[in-house]
Amino acid sequence: MIKVLFVCLGNICRSPLAEAIFNHKVKNLGLQPYFKSDSAGTSDYHIGELPDERTIRCAQSNKIDINHRSRQVNRVDFREFDYILAMDQQNLQNLNQMKTKYGFGEKEIYLIRDFVEGSQGQPVPDPYYGGEEGFHEIFQILDEAIGHFLNTIQERHRIYA
Ligand code: 4NP
Repeated sequence: MIKVLFVCLGNICRSPLAEAIFNHKVKNLGLQPYFKSDSAGTSDYHIGELPDERTIRCAQSNKIDINHRSRQVNRVDFREFDYILAMDQQNLQNLNQMKTKYGFGEKEIYLIRDFVEGSQGQPVPDPYYGGEEGFHEIFQILDEAIGHFLNTIQERHRIYA
């Protein structure tokens, strides 16, 4: 079982949507026995909350189930998850500081767009203070990045339905 954690700042916009898209793709490919996913935030701003209404509308308009309560990244996550995927450089920096503090200095943390040829180093932009269209933009970005990520780990771990 390969465990994947998606991480953003608030865990109400980007990372719960990423988790939902990942689960949708895994289900469609019949790969559910091989993967477990979750999402979390680096901040404590929205702990316990449902995803942002705009995130929920975006998932629904793309016929994707979304079901999550915001939580903060914790020490155990660095041991528990095989792949920890950050949405932007700020999340990545925070995660790299946390892993060192918690004694997991060797653990590699990835930027989610690093799996897309030509998009390495690019962020999934924070949509929180923008309008509804920002959510459609991040949906497209996440859909592409997660497709590439899934292909990469399927090949790396030889996982085929
Ligand atoms: P997320 O978006 O990190 O994609 O969940 C944000 C949600 C909340 C805040 C910032 C970004 N905030 O400042 O409360």
